[in-house]
Amino acid sequence: MKHKKQSIVKKYKLGNPIETNIIDRQIFCEDNNNFEHFQIFDDDIVINLNETDIVYGLGQSTRGINKRGFIYKSFCVDDDMHTENKSSLYGSHNILIIKNKAKIFAIYTDYPGEITYDIGYTDSNILKMSPKSLDINLYIITSDSLKQIIKEFRSLIGPSYVPPKWAFGYQQSRWGYETESDIKNVVENFKKNNLPIDSIYLDIDYMQQYKNFTVDQKSFPNFEKLVKDLLEENIKLVPIIDAAVRIEKDYELYEEGAANNYFCKDEYGNDFEAGCWPGKVCFPDFLNEKSRNWFSSKYKFLIDKGINGFWNDMNEPAIFYTPEGISSAVENVNQIKDNDIDLSLFFTIKDGFSNLMNRMQDYKSFYHTLDEIKFRNDIVHNLYAYFMTKGCYEYLDKEFPDKRFLLFSRSSCIGSHKHSGVWTGDNRSWWSHLLMNIKHMASLNMCGFIYSGADIGGFSDNTTEDLLIRWMQFGIFAPLFRNHAAKGTRNQEPYNFNKVNLFKNILNIRYSLILYIYSEYMKAIIENIMYFSPLSFEYESDTFCLRIEDQLLVGESIMIAPIYEQNGIGRYVYLPEDMLFIKFKEFDKYHFEVRYKGHNYIDISIEETHLFLRKNKILPLTNPATNVESIDCSTIYLIAFVCDIANFEIYDDDGYSKGYLNHKNFKTNIGITKKGQDYIINIENNNNKFKHIEMKIFDENGYNRTIYDCI
Ligand code: GLC
Repeated sequence: MKHKKQSIVKKYKLGNPIETNIIDRQIFCEDNNNFEHFQIFDDDIVINLNETDIVYGLGQSTRGINKRGFIYKSFCVDDDMHTENKSSLYGSHNILIIKNKAKIFAIYTDYPGEITYDIGYTDSNILKMSPKSLDINLYIITSDSLKQIIKEFRSLIGPSYVPPKWAFGYQQSRWGYETESDIKNVVENFKKNNLPIDSIYLDIDYMQQYKNFTVDQKSFPNFEKLVKDLLEENIKLVPIIDAAVRIEKDYELYEEGAANNYFCKDEYGNDFEAGCWPGKVCFPDFLNEKSRNWFSSKYKFLIDKGINGFWNDMNEPAIFYTPEGISSAVENVNQIKDNDIDLSLFFTIKDGFSNLMNRMQDYKSFYHTLDEIKFRNDIVHNLYAYFMTKGCYEYLDKEFPDKRFLLFSRSSCIGSHKHSGVWTGDNRSWWSHLLMNIKHMASLNMCGFIYSGADIGGFSDNTTEDLLIRWMQFGIFAPLFRNHAAKGTRNQEPYNFNKVNLFKNILNIRYSLILYIYSEYMKAIIENIMYFSPLSFEYESDTFCLRIEDQLLVGESIMIAPIYEQNGIGRYVYLPEDMLFIKFKEFDKYHFEVRYKGHNYIDISIEETHLFLRKNKILPLTNPATNVESIDCSTIYLIAFVCDIANFEIYDDDGYSKGYLNHKNFKTNIGITKKGQDYIINIENNNNKFKHIEMKIFDENGYNRTIYDCI
């Protein structure tokens, strides 16, 4: 059957844009005298909003899923204080989706510099986009549904990254594992407490003086053996790579970079120098293909030692200071230090130092070469991390064509989703950041960042046991499920808390959900659909869903309504249709209840991990395991809420190779049809992978039936 074309993409080329080549599809440019949905006034792109319009988008940014009412800036920044007043975070994701009663359209700006988005801040009914210059490739997608807009947008920007399957397991990180014995200690504690785990992270301390592609021999004397021993236990070590290269005579990476002009330059053509973790550093010019290929080939050093994944950090790039910044702050102090220092002078001195990090002046003082053209960083700023990760991804793809590596980045722009996932950077152990995590997941999914997650428990500040529990009860649904904390903060591994058994139960629930999570992840990739989605994307005609920002759909079967307030033991939930409310105490001990469409209040004690199973949907579970590799899929347990007909397709593959686009490999279809008091069950178990299927089927009256062997 032929489908009617439901969406239209139009491209407008304004001025003389920098060709980023992020979109590799040829699209005919429209006539610039006939803009659809927007107008241009004084070099600003302007869209009129109706009172009830909703504006989605902007990926990783502060505030709500509906972006109306504030000013945002696309300019990747290293800022660990994600308070509401901030307009930029680590990623810059230039997509807006406008939904009103009559129409739905998206506007994507392929522009690598700073854009200010005034989304009804100055005038509540005007959305104004102000790029630094009106040299832009702009795409307008019009469609009749939000889901269709996303499908079209994602097909425009290209397929999203797929990690290896082990990357869906629990990942433990801390900036503070300084030695081999620290790592062994983590492993020991996980084992002792029967906590499942798939990977442990190596933060900058594994390196010699924070130098990329080195290993500190004193603290990690048997690095290779450690990596290999842990691999035998199915635990991967994931090292960090920073964008900055330490300036040090005889440090090979630095010497090679300097000799070959691989680093970003200052205005006089000298290597641009700044400060980051290792001290004085140069930044590889990732925009320049040669530099990018050179740096990317260095990952081999760690791959040869058995490493299977990396996290790319500090790639906004983060600048702690520049020598010029320090000199001018010092000079300032010298000039005024003998004065009678009044309030204003005092703040001049103080701000002179506290504003040394990430100064716009510094971003305006170094240069890249993109396609042989020289660009000042601020003009192409948002491409830096994109090219760092693209380089790494392409190198790995070339050298290991059929192997998936775990790869995620701190900074990103749209396009980065093709090469890696993202984590949302340095959040805090705040309840408000748990809520921000929930909102980010929906907005990042719109941009194709399906492999995403936050530092669970919070990076900075001391977490509390209940915050970590509630965060994990949400985090078990995120593809990237990593607990990470900053140096100096309270130890945040689950075994450090009294309720270690409760953490074990939560982790077990995650592992029994992986079959579902992975199926839904892969469908999101293959079909260009959302994995985490706001309710409004599914229940478009339910106007109440448009208002909801703290409940999400996870894949096609689940709705979640996380607890994100301290001492919260319940909450209001809106149900757009009848659903089966499930509270797990343990993966196989749960309480069920049919909840009916409309406003509901649910009680959820700290011991309970809850979810809603949607009407006519099926949730497959397995027994938990100590790691992803050990998940035994021979027995699966289906929970089904069937009022008429329910279908579910289980997707599975080897988890390592890149054959995931080969549709025939991995599918098992389950169909359940209600016929009076009976059910007709249809299972196409093509690959014979599932030997026993046990089913618990509920109907709208809560009547349930268990069927023990359905194959
Ligand atoms: C940055 C990263 C953080 C890491 C730290 C030390 O702040 O965002 O995750 O732990 O650097 O490398």
